[in-house]
Formats: sequence, C-alpha cells, structure tokens
Amino acid sequence: METRPVPPESAVAHVDDPRRRLVDQTLKRFQYRPDALIEVLHVAQEAYSFLGEELLGDIARQLKLPESQVLGVATFYHAFALRPKGEHSCIVCTGTACYVKGAGEIVKVLEAAYGIHSGQTTADGRLTLGAARCFGNCSLAPLLVVDDKVLGKETAEGIAGRVAAVLGNGTPRRESTS
Ligand code: FES
Repeated sequence: METRPVPPESAVAHVDDPRRRLVDQTLKRFQYRPDALIEVLHVAQEAYSFLGEELLGDIARQLKLPESQVLGVATFYHAFALRPKGEHSCIVCTGTACYVKGAGEIVKVLEAAYGIHSGQTTADGRLTLGAARCFGNCSLAPLLVVDDKVLGKETAEGIAGRVAAVLGNGTPRRESTS
C-alpha cells in the first residue's frame, strides 16, 4: 500500500504565498526527508532572498530536525543569508512557463532599471533582485514577487514602474535615463 507523506499543518498555512508554496513543494518532493535540508534551504533562499528565523524554524519542524541544526547549516554555508540583503526584494520566476512568456526580458529590464544584476542589492540597500524556479503558479506566468505582493501575467514593458509603485518609491533610480 502506498504511503504518502502527510504535510505538517504549517505547510498548509502559507498556501497563498508563492514563495512559501515553492518551499512546501520542495519539502513534499523530498518527502520531508531530513537529508533534503540543503536542497530545501537553497530553494528557500532563492525564493525569499534570505532565510528568516520563522522560515528556518518551520523547515526544521517539517524535516523533524532540531532548529539548532538547521540554523547551524544555514550559518555555515556562505550561499545562505540569514538577513534580508536589501530593504525590499523582487524575485522574478524564471521557471519554464514564465521564461517562455518573457521572464528573461523582465529580468533584463529590472537589472537595467536598478543598475544591478539578479542576485545583487542596490548600493543604497533598498532592493535585492533575485530569480527563482517555478513558484507553482504557472497560470500567472510570467510572475514576480515584490516583497510579499505577487505580480502576475506581467510584461517587460513598464515593469520597472510597476515594481517601483509596489515599493512605494515612484520610479527606480535609473529608469528615467533609459
Ligand atoms: S514557471 Fe513561473 S510559476 Fe511556474
């Protein structure tokens, strides 16, 4: 008889947040196995751009690992950040469905608008740009998550202005020069 992993209660609580859904899908894909910790942390880092305390605690619970062990791993590897790099984050989904619908162009426009590459933070610390694999919401492709707001069915045209509007700071630093 097939035994299916039962998602812990906390996995259901964040179902509307595509970042959280991506982490939950990864946990499920690895059947909540403790040895999936590094992979789960990589996906979480990609989705959120940092590993917050609450998120790490939740991952620990779901993988049935001591929080101290999860924190230890997250601290040990330089690839993981425990604090947000920028005041805000903008994560563009570059999974297949989003990519074929123009996510690559969206990334390019945002990189040009903010004068940084994906994975970097603006010099003033205001925004971190990032890219993540499929958020599991492909019907909204191409989509991006600005802080906790989802922008779906986006286009490269005017995207920098829409991201800036979510951030509440008018137009990005370099948009007016391009
Ligand atoms: S590929 Fe972007 S949400 Fe699935």
